[in-house]
Amino acid sequence: MKKFWVIILFFGLSTPAIAKDSEASAIMKGMYESIEVLIPYSLSTDEFAAVSNRSKMQDELNKFAIKSEVLSDHFKIIRQDLFFLGYGLSQDAKDAAELYKAGNYEQSRFVLHHVSDSCVTCHSKAQSQDKKDGGKIFFSNIKNFKLTGFDLANYQTMSRQFDAALNKFEQTFLAEKFYLNSTAFGSYLKVALRVKNDPVRVEKFLLKLKNHVPAGSRLYDHVVYWHESAKDIVNNKLRAKSDLKSARRLIDRGDKIQGYYHDSASIVYYVAASALLLTKLESNKDKDELAEIFYLLGEIEDKMPDDFWISETEMYLEQSIRVAPQSKFGGKSLGLLEDRFLFNYTGSSGTHLPDDLKKNLKELRDLVHSKKKG
Ligand code: HEC
Repeated sequence: MKKFWVIILFFGLSTPAIAKDSEASAIMKGMYESIEVLIPYSLSTDEFAAVSNRSKMQDELNKFAIKSEVLSDHFKIIRQDLFFLGYGLSQDAKDAAELYKAGNYEQSRFVLHHVSDSCVTCHSKAQSQDKKDGGKIFFSNIKNFKLTGFDLANYQTMSRQFDAALNKFEQTFLAEKFYLNSTAFGSYLKVALRVKNDPVRVEKFLLKLKNHVPAGSRLYDHVVYWHESAKDIVNNKLRAKSDLKSARRLIDRGDKIQGYYHDSASIVYYVAASALLLTKLESNKDKDELAEIFYLLGEIEDKMPDDFWISETEMYLEQSIRVAPQSKFGGKSLGLLEDRFLFNYTGSSGTHLPDDLKKNLKELRDLVHSKKKG
């Protein structure tokens, strides 16, 4: 089950300028310190819930929740397009601490593990500015963790050891026989194409994977699509420019091979397009263009295989509306957002939108429709 965070009116909030960009690094180090304490215990319910560990766990979860709130506040000022991830993370961290306090150790552990999805999602958005892998953090404890395979690769992405993560992802895919974890494949592509901007690596890896998977299987058909897409991107330099035209062209090519809603055949084109769009997002001041970029990002997320904990579709669409409610794409985003909510909240007994969502949706509708009045 996906989680929907409701963010009401975060745009235009007046907040004191408490944070400078250089603070990000200190905040992140603090977050990582907590994760380093919590994750090893949380790998086993017994250890996580053991009476002898409880005060240590509770103490660290409380600290982590406070640090997450600082992170959320930081991004609210620095990068509104990333803020919603920081905000979601702070809500999850608070939940994890409260669940633990109430004695719901298993649930607390579950939420805590999903917190790492927020770290991974945010870190795999933009090209890394880190001079060397892993930033300035010394990852002393990682060998003590009993993490393997995709868990380890995700952990490495979380802690920004991107080269190590790519190697681990590739090794693990090749170690599997006739099965492919599509969530892990999406995460791999995000690191390879967005963070590392390396389609050549992806093309080479997919060729290897193609030779590894038995021909004639369903998976093989997909791998062929992915490899062909990567080859097309490399040979025709489809990512050479970060402009909207190139992004739209990649999306079109993806649409052509997508068999059905949430089909993963077009995932390589879509992630490549999202990489261009995310680059184009940074430091962009043109509101109509921003509305289109957010719309396209929302649409891509909507079409991609549906198995992430964090649903970014609604976030992007809301940002598209708020940045330019009067624009063509602001209006389109509202349409898509309403469809999404109807789809997610309609059951046999009708549509049941939670009150806070209803309120938010009404506000977005008013923003868009005020155009018609004047
Ligand atoms: C909202 C986006 C976002 C979220 C969520 C996020 N990060 Fe980060 N993180 C960043 C950015 C941006 C940087 C690069 C900061 C810089 O300029 O050095 C970074 C850097 C880091 C670094 C390197 C710091 C350094 O100076 O070497 C670590 C470690 C890190 N994050 C850990 C985490 C962990 C652990 C989590 C989750 C518990 C997390 N981050 C969640 C955006 C995010």
